[in-house]
Amino acid sequence: MTILDSQSLESAAAPARDDDVVLRVRDLKTYLYTKRGVGKAVDGVSFDLRRGETLGLVGESGSGKSMTCLSVLRLNPEPASRIVGGQILLRGEDLLQKTDSEMRTVRGRRIAIVLQDPMTALNPVLTIKDQVGETLRLHQGLRGRTLWQRAVELLKKLRISDPERRLNSYPHQLSGGMRQRIVSAIALSCEPEVLLADEPTTALDVTVQAALLKLLKDLQREAGFPILFVTHDFGIVARMCDTVAVMYAGKIVEKASTATLFRSPAHPYTQALLRSVPDVLVETERLASIEGQPPSIFALSQGCAFAPRCPHVMDRCRVEYPSEIRLAQDQTVRCWRHA
Ligand SMILES: Nc1ncnc2c1ncn2[C@@H]1O[C@H](COP(=O)(O)OP(=O)(O)O)[C@@H](O)[C@H]1O
Ligand SMILES: [Mg+2]
Repeated sequence: MTILDSQSLESAAAPARDDDVVLRVRDLKTYLYTKRGVGKAVDGVSFDLRRGETLGLVGESGSGKSMTCLSVLRLNPEPASRIVGGQILLRGEDLLQKTDSEMRTVRGRRIAIVLQDPMTALNPVLTIKDQVGETLRLHQGLRGRTLWQRAVELLKKLRISDPERRLNSYPHQLSGGMRQRIVSAIALSCEPEVLLADEPTTALDVTVQAALLKLLKDLQREAGFPILFVTHDFGIVARMCDTVAVMYAGKIVEKASTATLFRSPAHPYTQALLRSVPDVLVETERLASIEGQPPSIFALSQGCAFAPRCPHVMDRCRVEYPSEIRLAQDQTVRCWRHA
């Protein structure tokens, strides 16, 4: 039995319906403005997140995964970066058209985010009760005993043992895995329509990580929210994701169902990435690395950004970037080899 279980194969084969789209991102551009010039951190990213779907966003460090995630909530660092184009449609409403105060009700309530380091999301000088309570008070108007009961319920739902005691603890008194559960509890407390998860388990050890991933999956199955799951770990992709988008230098270069991506990756970058990780399908220890350096997003040419590292590069690749080419119902790629 491989990690790529029958469940992800089934959901990948499920027919995609347009009215299931919860979040639709179109041609999103988030640029960096620095002394070095303009860097295209996110350069025309498009994807759909459907009800119940988990979309993995993968790519090397610096490819723009976090910036994409943060941009969806308009939390990208300012003034270093600015969203300069595109649409972020939450059930058809463009978040880029909303006022700052409207965005505050989207964040946390309609779209929740869980980041890699739970300490950044928690206030070290407040108890867990205060922090879980704040969300419930703010977004659900709960007070007193009802609030306490709901907080206990919430922690139980996240399978946190001894919730009463945890609620009276401070973040530093809890383990990393426990802190990430608390952050997830806060994130899910308002029953968000979408969950953004930016490498939420990277800092955790393997068993704690597996437990949290399973928990997220169970809660998702129950509530149906889609997850945008940023990771550089293909083992996690195999376990968590129905579909995958591969990012390189600010662009999505390939999108496919998880099963298809593992079986027949189309972009040379995806192929190289899959070769560079221990084989998730046969679980060997083989490790290789991708030749060459990731490009600077401050000095991108007109052509394909992967061209300098690509074993299949053609003249055309250096001067022109292909648009999305559909290879199958569940796979698109941006590569001239497939044109
Ligand atoms: N606060 C920031 N200020 C300046 N540049 C940043 C900042 N955050 C990210 N970047 C740059 O934006 C690009 C994309 O980064 P990021 O989205 O964090 O990549 P990833 O999450 O894929 O590792 C990188 O070149 C990174 O150096
Ligand atoms: Mg990141």
